[in-house]
Amino acid sequence: MSQLPAWQRAVCYEVYVPSFCRARGAGAGPGLAAAGGRLPGDLEGVRSRLDHLAWLGVDVIWLTPFYPSPMADFGYDVADYCDVNPAFGTLEDFDRLLDDAHRRGMRVIADWVPNHTSDQHPWFLEARSSRAAPKRDWYVWRDGSPERPPNNWTAAFTGGPAWTWDEATGQWYLHLFLPEQPDLNWANPEVEEAMFDVVRFWLDRGLDGFRLDVIHGIGKDPALPDAPEDLARIPWSSQNDYQGTHDILRRLRRLVDSYPDERFLVGEVYLLSTAKVARYYGRGDELHLAFNFPPLYAPWEAAAWRRRIQRVEEEMGPIDAWPTWVLSNHDNPRHRTRYGGSEARARAAAVLLLTLRGTPFLYQGEELGLLDAVIPDDRVVDPGGRDGCRAPVPWEASAGHGWAGVDQVEPWLPWPPESDTRNASVLRADASSILHLYQRLIDLRRSSPALRSGRWEELDAPPDVLAYQRVSGDDRRVVIVNFGDERAEVALAGGLTVQVASDGQGEGAPYAGSVGPSAAAVLG
Ligand code: GLC
Repeated sequence: MSQLPAWQRAVCYEVYVPSFCRARGAGAGPGLAAAGGRLPGDLEGVRSRLDHLAWLGVDVIWLTPFYPSPMADFGYDVADYCDVNPAFGTLEDFDRLLDDAHRRGMRVIADWVPNHTSDQHPWFLEARSSRAAPKRDWYVWRDGSPERPPNNWTAAFTGGPAWTWDEATGQWYLHLFLPEQPDLNWANPEVEEAMFDVVRFWLDRGLDGFRLDVIHGIGKDPALPDAPEDLARIPWSSQNDYQGTHDILRRLRRLVDSYPDERFLVGEVYLLSTAKVARYYGRGDELHLAFNFPPLYAPWEAAAWRRRIQRVEEEMGPIDAWPTWVLSNHDNPRHRTRYGGSEARARAAAVLLLTLRGTPFLYQGEELGLLDAVIPDDRVVDPGGRDGCRAPVPWEASAGHGWAGVDQVEPWLPWPPESDTRNASVLRADASSILHLYQRLIDLRRSSPALRSGRWEELDAPPDVLAYQRVSGDDRRVVIVNFGDERAEVALAGGLTVQVASDGQGEGAPYAGSVGPSAAAVLG
C-alpha cells in the first residue's frame, strides 16, 4: 500500500487562509480594507492549529492564496506571486508553517492562479501603460469599438461582458472573472516562463505542490470565437477547455516531476462533465489530480449519487485517472447547508466522502459540522455571494473563539451559527461528536488497503440506500449510506461487524441488518 503515490493515499484539507485562524493580534498587520478593515486569519494562525489537523489525520494541507492582493476576489487577484500579503504575515511565517507541517508528517500545497492576475500586478500596470509596452502582449487585448465587446463571453460574478474597454489605449482586455482580474495571454511564451518561475520559487522553498486555479481556462482559442448562446453565460466553464492547455500542462508536469519527493498538482477543472475532466490527466502526463464537481452539485439522493459515482468509475477508471471527491469548498454553500441543515446528513455524508475510491478533500470546518453563516446586508463583501461558507472557524467557546485580536477588531466575516457550542475545543472533548467521527473514519481509511485503494463495487440495496464494497486482496469493507428518512433493511452476506457508524451507535458489534434514517456505516 505504501507504493501508492502521496497524492493517492492522502486525505487533503482545504485551508481558506482568511478564515482559518488568527494568531497575531489586532495591531500585527493590516485588516482587510475590502472588508471594512476587519481582521482576517493569518499564516501563524494556521501554524497554531496544526495539532488539530495532525490529530484529525490530514496528510495534505491546501492553502488558498495568501499573496499580496487588493482582495477584489479575496486573494484570487494576485499582485505578486512570490510574496505574502502583510495581512496574512510574512515569507518567514510561511517557511515556519511549512517546516512545522513537515515535521508533523503533513505536506502543504498552495494555490497557483495562472489564468489571471490582479489589475494591480506590475505586469498589468506595465501592459496597460501603452500599446507599445514590452508586456502589452502578456494579456489579451482586442481592437473594436467601445460600444461592442469583441465577443459574447460574459464575466463570472458580474454577468456583464468578459471585456473591459481601456480608454487610455483604446483596446479591450479580456477577463473571465472581474475587471480587476485581467486574463494572462498564455500564447506568449514569456508568460509561461514567468509563471513557471513562480512554480520554481515555491517548490525550491519546499512546497509540496499546487492547486491550480481555473486551469482549464488558460489556453484560449486564438480566434476567441463567440460561444453558443446557451453557454455564453458560463465563461469559465465552457468557453475555454482549449486544446493548447494540455500542451502547457505537459510542460508543467515535467517541471514538477523534476523535483524529488512526489510533488503534485491538483487542478480546478471547472467543467461539469466527468469525461472532460478526465482528459486533464492526459496519459498520466498532465495533472496528478483534478477536481470533479458534478458530485458536489448532486442533491442528497441515493439515485443522484449512484449515477455520479458510476460515471466516475466508467469515465476515469479505464484511463487510470485517480478520482477526487469534494463536498464543500470556499466557492459553494457548505454541504450541510445544501443538504437541508441536518447534522445526521452531514455525518452520513462524511462516511460517503471518506470511503469512495479516490482522494478526498475536506473543507475547513466541515469536520465541525459547520453551517454557513447568515451574512447581514452590511457585511456582504464577496462579489460572488460566497461569504456564508467563508465564515471564520471557531476554535474555542470563549469570546473571540480562539482568534487573536478580535476582541479589538471584528473578524472580517461574522461567525457561523452555534459557535459557542460548535467549535473545535468543545467537539474535541465529546467523543460522540461529528469531529470524532471524521477522525475515526480517517483512521480506518489509513489502516485499510480496501478503503485506500481497493476497487469499488455496488451492492443491492433498497432505493434510498447506496451500498457498496471496497475490495483489495483479503481486505473487504462494506459501506451503507441511507439517504432516506426511514430506517432501511439491507441484507448483507458474511457476518459483518460495524466499524464506524455515522451516529456512533453499535460500533464493534455485529451488523444487525438495517441502517437508521440519514445514517451510514462502514462494515468489515
Ligand atoms: C476559482 C476559485 C475562486 C475564484 C476564481 C477566480 O474558481 O476557487 O474562489 O474566485 O477561481 O480566481
